[in-house]
Order: sequence, then C-alpha cells, then structure tokens
Amino acid sequence: MILIQRVRQILVSVAFFSLIQTAFVAQAQTIELSLDTSKAGARIDRNLFGQFAEHLGHGVYEGIWVGADSKIPNTRGIRKDVVAALKAIKVPNVRWPGGCFADEYHWRKGIGPQRTVTLNPNWGGVIEPNTFGTHEFMDFLDQIRAEAYVSVNVGSGTVQEAAEWLEYMTASQPTTLEKERAANGHGAPYKVGYLGIGNESWDCGGNMTPEYYLDQLKIYSRFVRNYNPAQQDKEQMLKIAVGPGGDGPRWTEWTEAIMKAYQQHTWSWEMNGLSMHNYTVVNWQDKFKSEGFGETEYAKFLKETLNMEGLIAKHSAIMDKYDPQKKVALAVDEWGSWYAPLPGSNPGFLVQQNSLRDGVLVALNLNIFARHADRVRMANIAQMINVLQAMILTDKEKMVLTPTYYVYKMYVPFQDATFVPMTFDAGTYTHGDVSLPRVDAIAAKGTDGKIWVEVTNVDPNQAVEVHVNVAGMNLRGASGETLTAPKVDSINTFEAPNTVVPKAISAKASAGKLTLKLEPKSVTVVSVE
Ligand code: AHR
Repeated sequence: MILIQRVRQILVSVAFFSLIQTAFVAQAQTIELSLDTSKAGARIDRNLFGQFAEHLGHGVYEGIWVGADSKIPNTRGIRKDVVAALKAIKVPNVRWPGGCFADEYHWRKGIGPQRTVTLNPNWGGVIEPNTFGTHEFMDFLDQIRAEAYVSVNVGSGTVQEAAEWLEYMTASQPTTLEKERAANGHGAPYKVGYLGIGNESWDCGGNMTPEYYLDQLKIYSRFVRNYNPAQQDKEQMLKIAVGPGGDGPRWTEWTEAIMKAYQQHTWSWEMNGLSMHNYTVVNWQDKFKSEGFGETEYAKFLKETLNMEGLIAKHSAIMDKYDPQKKVALAVDEWGSWYAPLPGSNPGFLVQQNSLRDGVLVALNLNIFARHADRVRMANIAQMINVLQAMILTDKEKMVLTPTYYVYKMYVPFQDATFVPMTFDAGTYTHGDVSLPRVDAIAAKGTDGKIWVEVTNVDPNQAVEVHVNVAGMNLRGASGETLTAPKVDSINTFEAPNTVVPKAISAKASAGKLTLKLEPKSVTVVSVE
C-alpha cells in the first residue's frame, strides 16, 4: 500500500515537473542572433570598465581606507578584502578625488606626517581627515593594479597648485617637490594616466559659462604637466575636459563650444577626452527606492537608463562635426543608478542598495558603450564602494559584493576585445504603459582569441531561447556564466551574500547550431567555440 502511494506521488511530481518544463518552453521567446567576425569593429577600451572613488560618505574612508592600526585586515591601511575583490574585476583606472569634492580638494593637506583636518561641505559636512591622500591613493592603485585618473581643482584651486601637484607626483629630477615626495616615502615618480581638468564646472565645479571654462581649460592644459620620463613618448597623460551633463540646449551648447575650440586649438594646449555625466534617475525630486520595489519600478527604471544611447549619439554627432577623426574620446566618467538614500542613512552619503535590476542596468549600459566604442573610450561607474551604484558594500569589517560587481566580473573578457557587430530582433517587453527591447546583446573577439557573446534578457517573466550563428563557424558549444535571482529586487546582504551570484552555463551545439536557454531577468556571458 505504501509502495503504491509512493509510486503515485512520483508519477504526480513527474507530471507536474514536465508541466513546468512545457510552460517554460511554451513561454520562452526565440531569437536568432547572427554575427560575422570578418566585420570586426572598434576596440572596446578596457577603460570603459573604469571606476570612480570620491571622498564621499564611506566610499574612501571605511570602503578603502581603514588605517594601519585597524583590526580590519589591511595593507598599509588599505582593506585586504576590498583589494582582492577589485583585483578580480581588473579595474583599469580609478577617478579620484571627486566629483564635486575635487574642486575643493587641496592636495597639500593630504601628504606628509601631519595631515590637515578639514570639512567635506559637499557631502554631509563631515570631517575630512585627509589621511587618505596622494600616496595612499597611489598605493591603493598599485595594490589593485589600476591606473590613476586624477581630477585637479579648477573651481577653488589655482593653476599653480595643480601644476605643483603634478610636479610632486611625477618629477624625476631633484626638485624641491620631488625631494619632498621622496621624503614622504616614494622616490620613484608616480604615473598619472589621465588628468581631469575640473568637474561639472557648469554646476558644483564653479557654475562657469562655457567661455569661462574654456579659458581655464587652456591654461590648465598648458601648465599642468606630467614630468614622468616614462610618460613622455609612450603612455602620455591624457587630458579630459569637462563636457555635458544632459541633452538639453545648455549641454549641446557646451559640447559645441568646447569641441569648436578644440578644432581651432594651437600647439600650446590640448585635450584628449570630453567628459560626460549621466545618472539614471526617473525623478530627482522623488527618487526611486533601491530595494523593496516591484515590476513597475523595474520596467520604468530600465527604460530610463536606455536614454544613455540617445545622449551619446547626440554628443558624438557634435564631436564628429569638429573631430571627424575621433581623436577626442567621449569619457562617460560618471554614470549609474541614483536612488533615494536608504532610510536612516546620512542623506549626504548617497547610500543605496544594489539589486538584480542594477545588474541588468549595468549590462545595458556597458553594451551601449561597446556599440559606441569608436568614440566612447572611457567610462567610470559612480561609485566604487558604498556610494550610489557600488561594486562593494561594507559595514565595518563586513563586506558584500553586489550584482553590479558580478556583471563587471562577467564582462572582464570584453576588456580590450574587438567589437563584432551582430543582428537580432530584440522583440518587446511591455509592462503597463512601459515598453522596451526584450533582449540586448553584444559580441566581441577577446584578447584571448575567443568569441564572447553577452545576452541580457530584460523580461522578468519570460525565458529566451537564443540561436547563435557565427558566419563561417561550425559551432560546437558555449560556456560561461549567467546572473539572475528570484526577484527583480533581489539583493545580496551581509547575512545572505549569495542571492545574486553568477552560475555556470553551457550549451552543446547540434549540427553546428547553438541554442542558449536564458532565464527571465538575466545577464549571460559565454564564449562560443
Ligand atoms: O557622484 C556624486 C556627484 O554627482 C559627484 O560628486 C558630482 O560630480 C555629480 O554631480
């Protein structure tokens, strides 16, 4: 009797399971994805995966810097757990010290044995101990193996102050500043790969007109020099001018003015990049929540993030007019999700959670950058730790990696890969009155010689079957990782850090045809063979 009951139970569950499977297959959308490696395009610059670390909230203090005496394991004051996590995503460059903070930063207060304690009026009005300064930043970069993107103070500093900072960091000859650097512990000159000349100079950086800023840009570009002998011919420091922060006339006029001046520039000044800032915020007055939301907020927020495409297209078109050879890079050096501060947090610290929605948002934006890789050659997500759309969240000794972090990790093979165009019919995902492409995808030939394909299934309800065709290749299979989670607002917490983590995915081709089955609301990166 018991045996019969057990057999009946098994039969019922088998029937139920196949019902679910049938439902999965019946609901799954099918898309054909075709690529041709002979049509390879621009290099996807590794700098598109750059980071931004401002003196803001717990981004630097606690997120990176705990001090040598801390109980939190550290190397010369810098957290070991954070360094290990960042090394794994191969951070190419870090923009520092701000943001708005940069235009009030005075580098001398952050060097030597006695640091000047100041305030951080932009971000909560808290004490700025200046214990994390030039040497600590460079040590941090050394530990994570990233390049320096230093933003100099145009708003409240002087050209002399900025010029002396660069001399301090990069001189190799025995000047007084070089000797001071050596006395402070670093005999060899530092490398500074990228120089930001001001930050949002149209707003928190000093409310300048384009004409006033241009005058500053020319002077800073002329006199703020990099003396590092290793950066005179090769690896020259690239100078990045302040660019637009939106798509209205105010911003197009700004881009026009800077690019027009660039077209007419003489030997005595130079710029190699134009910065652009664009956050995803549906309503600045009533910001979306970063946790505890539903499909409506998921759909609206992702729809909003796709505005990045139009913004890049608009400013690239202006740049093309004055710089058809695309010598000047568009550097999207602040971007990401900006939500309401978490309840109970200091509103000046910009603390927010990071959910599966942010993982999907990252993939959509990185794909936009990759498709514009001929012009967009740098991007810095805001911000690296504990602030806005962070890779990492910490609470004293605890650390958790966010869905955003995992997408950056999955995209490592795209760093310096060569973009391969592809065709596919994205379909449409509709929720209420919001419609957006159901699927997004990019492909590239990696520096490892492999073909890498990324597919984002935006639809939170329906799976997708992707048929991959590579011209001239008889596909054998694919393997990689996929990131999804039970809910659109699933998050990783200190207590449950593995809710949104990538899982292995593979597929075998049959008769040269490859089919990938992708979960709803997922980001997938595979290499195909
Ligand atoms: O990332 C936070 C702030 O946003 C930056 O300091 C500023 O540049 C931008 O407005």
